[in-house]
Amino acid sequence: MARPCRCTPKQRRLSLTTINLTGPTVATARTRTRPRLLFARSFLANPRGTGSLIPSSRRLINRLLGGIDWSKVQTVVEYGPGTGVVTRALLARLGPDAKLIAMEINPDFVSFLRRDIPDTRLTIVAASAESVAAALAGNGRSHCDVAVSSLPFSIMPDDVCQAILVATAAAMAPDAVFVGYQYSTRWLGALRQVFGQVSVRFELRNWPPAFVFNARVGPQ
Ligand SMILES: C[S@@+](CC[C@H](N)C(=O)[O-])C[C@H]1O[C@@H](n2cnc3c(N)ncnc32)[C@H](O)[C@@H]1O
Repeated sequence: MARPCRCTPKQRRLSLTTINLTGPTVATARTRTRPRLLFARSFLANPRGTGSLIPSSRRLINRLLGGIDWSKVQTVVEYGPGTGVVTRALLARLGPDAKLIAMEINPDFVSFLRRDIPDTRLTIVAASAESVAAALAGNGRSHCDVAVSSLPFSIMPDDVCQAILVATAAAMAPDAVFVGYQYSTRWLGALRQVFGQVSVRFELRNWPPAFVFNARVGPQ
């Protein structure tokens, strides 16, 4: 007769992970831990390029994507998807015919995202955000309705930031919005020079706490 299991639910889940190497429990454990490890490894290898040690919090993402009527959005560009926390939140909000074009320069993140998010609305472009016009054209679009940035602008070279801002403003449809976050206010002056209308809010419930911006082309 089988002996009753005296372990806690958590211990039981762990022992199942060890025994059933091909089953769904392993897949669950893998998707929970691997992105964070990959993210931390990428940060240690290239802190300035990755920008933070851990992915954005749910609170930061909600603040970043809140206030936009996603039912009307057809084309979104995302800069710096990393392991996809913002990407997944975008896909959850977008309609079935919308298109999300995510641009990422870290090849490890590109491979991870292509494998881990099999959604036909999503295209991962392995290129820097400056080439947003080419990324849109490659997907049959001339402009985006929303641009979402996780780029670490405050610690990136000034000329690269400027090129990305100018390319983004040119890629936006009339009434389009550019949203993103930063860990310092250092770079917001450059944002204001290209985008006439900029508002900034602070989100404490993220590590590190972040300034969330919302920008539109046009007079101040
Ligand atoms: C702070 S991480 C954000 C990751 C994720 N979106 C999040 O919120 O947790 C910044 C990401 O931007 C990417 N990145 C840095 N410079 C870039 C550039 N010029 N174009 C596209 N992606 C870039 C990095 O590789 C990294 O994945």
